[in-house]
Amino acid sequence: MSTEIRIKRQTTRDIRARKGGDPVVVLTAYTAPMAGLLDPHCDILLVGDSLGMVLYGMDSTLGVSVDMMINHGRAVMRGSSRSMVVVDMPFASYQESPEQAFRNAARIMAETGCAAVKLEGGREMADTIHFLTTRGVPVMAHIGLMPQAVNTAGGFRAHGRNDEEAAAIRIDARAVADAGAFAVVVEGTVEPVARALTAEIEIPTIGIGASAACDGQVLVTEDLLGLFNDFTPKFVKRYANLSPLVSQAAAEYAAEVKSRAFPGPEHCFGVPKQK
Ligand code: KIV
Repeated sequence: MSTEIRIKRQTTRDIRARKGGDPVVVLTAYTAPMAGLLDPHCDILLVGDSLGMVLYGMDSTLGVSVDMMINHGRAVMRGSSRSMVVVDMPFASYQESPEQAFRNAARIMAETGCAAVKLEGGREMADTIHFLTTRGVPVMAHIGLMPQAVNTAGGFRAHGRNDEEAAAIRIDARAVADAGAFAVVVEGTVEPVARALTAEIEIPTIGIGASAACDGQVLVTEDLLGLFNDFTPKFVKRYANLSPLVSQAAAEYAAEVKSRAFPGPEHCFGVPKQK
């Protein structure tokens, strides 16, 4: 008899059941080693299209492709065993029609083994979310500040500051919940609006820059680690400051190489010294 213990990954049902209860912990992950480090502490690992900016140095997420998401999704699946893995649908892979969204979501799920996809959009995406969720594709929605719509939304800014915007976000939250999303990311949204929509809908709200009133929180891991120098949003608390450590390690290495003091193979591979 095998003594192997199989760890069960979190499911969309588990996450859905956390509404109003134990807060849902979500971090982004793009690689297998990072996924392995984060996995014991998270409920969901999000392979976010933020990887375009964080890993590839792009100016926005608009240039990210389905193939990129699949490659990183596979790596995160390999590096994790208990968190649910959700993969972002990149720009232009789902907005055209529900059928286009299904084709790309099915590819992402089949080729990565992830449990769900995330897509940006409120009521305008409700038909698509319904189409996907009634055909076996679990969807995490994403409302409020939507980075893929940065060019039409007038830049990165907090949403819900006036009555019209506040009402629009609440309508979006209701629409994606009714369409069948199992959870919704609420980004860059003022606290009273995040609190109100969290109380109004039956699915967990996962906040990023949307206050502690949400049912869970998500952060870009490189922001939390202080590993991403270009721009860190005001709301991000840094839990570590790794950039100077990386620079220092690289500088020490370079100095050793240049002074020819670089350790030999006996140091690197633990080969016993000849007597
Ligand atoms: O792409 C991403 O990392 C995201 C999170 C910031 C929510 O969508």
